Amino acid sequence: MSKRIDVKDLNVYYGDFRAVEGVSMNIEPKSVTAFIGPSGCGKSTFLRTLNRMHEVIPGARVEGEVLLDGDDLYGPGVDPVAVRTHVGMVFQRPNPFPTMSIRDNVLAGVKLNGRKLSKADADSLVEQSLRGANLWNEVKDRLGKPGSGLSGGQQQRLCIARAIAVKPDVILMDEPCSALDPISTLAIEDLIEELKENYTVVIVTHNMQQAARVSDKTAFFNIAGTGKPGKLIEYADTTTIFNNPAQKSTEDYVSGRFG
Ligand SMILES: Nc1ncnc2c1ncn2[C@@H]1O[C@H](COP(=O)(O)OP(=O)(O)O)[C@@H](O)[C@H]1O
Ligand SMILES: [Mg+2]
Repeated sequence: MSKRIDVKDLNVYYGDFRAVEGVSMNIEPKSVTAFIGPSGCGKSTFLRTLNRMHEVIPGARVEGEVLLDGDDLYGPGVDPVAVRTHVGMVFQRPNPFPTMSIRDNVLAGVKLNGRKLSKADADSLVEQSLRGANLWNEVKDRLGKPGSGLSGGQQQRLCIARAIAVKPDVILMDEPCSALDPISTLAIEDLIEELKENYTVVIVTHNMQQAARVSDKTAFFNIAGTGKPGKLIEYADTTTIFNNPAQKSTEDYVSGRFG
């Protein structure tokens, strides 16, 4: 079930280094939100705070609140592992488990969470997840073959199937197409369009056309200089960010004048 995210006064650190400063934003359910901005401005760092992946790095910490339909993901007693079942993630490089079969890859996240499934339930979850990732027709006759035998674009859709098998509320994607060819990229973009019917989708992309094509809202992040924290500069409907931004630096970035 798609849920909203409310971020309040978030600061994100690596040790003493404040990588992201003062971010407040509301991310709508059943929509696609894109994060754009120059390299190093903290897009990935901020994204990882939305499912408590940031803190797996030694010395890394977060100040502020991230509310998922009103529940603070950083509240006392909240289990980060449980958070990650509600907020799934897809990475830049497709990372299926190479020796595991396609079927077992889809089920990997579910098994990690300790859920026991009957063979029939597992079969049906595999089909449903692969259909949800627009991959079923391409792999239904080789579910027992290793995930590493698939093309890059298919592997990325397999990772998306693995993410949705857990039935999350939110799917985070960090430059999910940056390692893919243009045809595979379009397949993922079509899929993102479909995913927003059921999930809150957040995507980091360095591809401006992609942000314009797939997202409903866009957040532009920037840094004043090396060693300075990244900040959220402007957040609005994607058409506004690209056609009529309020900030000069947003306009410079989306028109390709820097970054
Ligand atoms: N594991 C890490 N340890 C220390 N600093 C990091 C780490 N990962 C990223 N950073 C720093 O945090 C800042 C933001 O990086 P990142 O979130 O990767 O930016 P983006 O995704 O926008 O390119 C950069 O200055 C980067 O060097
Ligand atoms: Mg990044």
